[in-house]
Amino acid sequence: MDAQNETGANRAPASWWQTGVIYQIYPRSFQDGTGDGIGDLPGILSRLDYLADLGIDAIWVSPIFPSPMADFGYDVSDYVGIDPLFGTVEDFDRLVTAVHGRGMKLLLDLVPNHTSDQHVWFRQARASRDNPKRDWYIWRDPAPDGGPPNNWLSEFGGSAWTLDAASGQYYYHAFLDRQPDLNWRNPQVVAAIHEVMRTWMRRGVDGFRVDVIWHLMKDAEFRDNPENPAFAAGMNPYARLLPQRTTDLSEVQDVIAGLRAVVDEFPERLLIGEIYLPVERLVAYYGAELKGVHLPFNFALLDTAWNARALDRLITTYEAALPPGGWPNWVLGNHDRPRIATRVGPDQARVAAMLLLTLRGTPTLYYGDEIGMANVPIPPERIQDPYEKNVPGLGLGRDGVRTPMQWDDSPFAGFSDVEPWLPVAADFSEVNVAAQRGNGHSMLTFVRRLIALRRAHPALLVGDYRALAAQGDLLLYVRTLEGAERVLVALNVGPDPLVATLPGTVGEVLLSTFCDRQDERISGEIALRANEGVIVGVAAGAVLPE
Ligand code: GLC
Repeated sequence: MDAQNETGANRAPASWWQTGVIYQIYPRSFQDGTGDGIGDLPGILSRLDYLADLGIDAIWVSPIFPSPMADFGYDVSDYVGIDPLFGTVEDFDRLVTAVHGRGMKLLLDLVPNHTSDQHVWFRQARASRDNPKRDWYIWRDPAPDGGPPNNWLSEFGGSAWTLDAASGQYYYHAFLDRQPDLNWRNPQVVAAIHEVMRTWMRRGVDGFRVDVIWHLMKDAEFRDNPENPAFAAGMNPYARLLPQRTTDLSEVQDVIAGLRAVVDEFPERLLIGEIYLPVERLVAYYGAELKGVHLPFNFALLDTAWNARALDRLITTYEAALPPGGWPNWVLGNHDRPRIATRVGPDQARVAAMLLLTLRGTPTLYYGDEIGMANVPIPPERIQDPYEKNVPGLGLGRDGVRTPMQWDDSPFAGFSDVEPWLPVAADFSEVNVAAQRGNGHSMLTFVRRLIALRRAHPALLVGDYRALAAQGDLLLYVRTLEGAERVLVALNVGPDPLVATLPGTVGEVLLSTFCDRQDERISGEIALRANEGVIVGVAAGAVLPE
């Protein structure tokens, strides 16, 4: 029986993906095992003990499939192979076995919206107008003036249409011209991707993070997108139009239900959707009767102003928007967005981690955030990201959040023996795993203790969330598992000390972001230092504010 609908009031056992912590690996940058300056599967395999020790439950690996790497793997030329840069299918099988052997799960990235222009499907499709694969992609005749068929824009700059001179038609690409979009209105495309999913699940994969899932369907009539009235000079040029005809169509829900049905053919598998939409739209992706994705990635923390009131409003809005039985989730970082330690500053990064791991729902950690890695400035001659190359100068480039994992203080941070594909952070000799491992007060020690604490307290795993206060820089909330336990979380999201007043006895400190105060008794008030968060085990019978 699928327990997911029942976690909540009646406390049925939760699924692994509800209580687990997900860790994202950007494979080019985690560990080079072959000495070419690029991360790979043998590299990941050699670091599994680190991940097991950190206490995470599932690893999501960004694309590892054969690819010309125009968008670093998000341009797939073979959905069921492994790019030689990353290793072999045998390496992959070894990885699955080793991950499972440590009690963890392995999630792959599924990129069904588009392929590489080098995928054999597209090469056939572009060969002639009457090729059987032609309709697997989205082709239109030119507008009367010979230009693109409509005004649709690429997220990576310029028109989303590229003319194929040989056949005289344009093809649609939501991203690079080297990433033509598949036509999800064609049942053969649907069947082909479903079979890809089965292939990996038969190989032992525990689920998928689905790339740009809200893009899969586009308007059948190819109507123009409306102008965005809020657009202003200096903004991302993609924001000039509102993508009403190209994203978040209601029809996409049927496509997603189809993906979910395939996942449900296998026991205990997980489907996550990458979706950048406001909370009220995002929650539609749980699907009718929760038969959409299990977890529509909630990226709201990536953009929310870092103050108690804004965070409280976001959490409350999100909790209220969830459909009955819909399981929440939270994300603080990924390979597309600035690092949390840079966005909120290194001191607040610990508070942010405490927030991520004590909110209700599944947390996803981005590699390196557990040691406080920051965005790395990239010199112009080392820019790799096609987004930055196409839309320069707006700070959209993603290379700085994809730099090599900092393992130790050897010349290339223990990531590789040779100069890596992206520069290593300047601060790597201090900010690295080896230096932090033995330090009882390091960020790594803190995050490891936080994950262990979370695992040990059912209230943090599956308890209810209740906001208690959001005043000044104080964010105070409690996680409650009725009849079992209560855990209080007090976060100081600012740079000045503060005092939270509480009615009488509360309980004992379980963890501070500074890794001290263990077992300190809390009664009447909690004094928080600058940039401090504490987790308090609430004593039986203690009365908390309403
Ligand atoms: C997703 C990926 C991003 C990629 C894009 C196109 O947003 O996370 O890295 O460039 O899709 O596939």
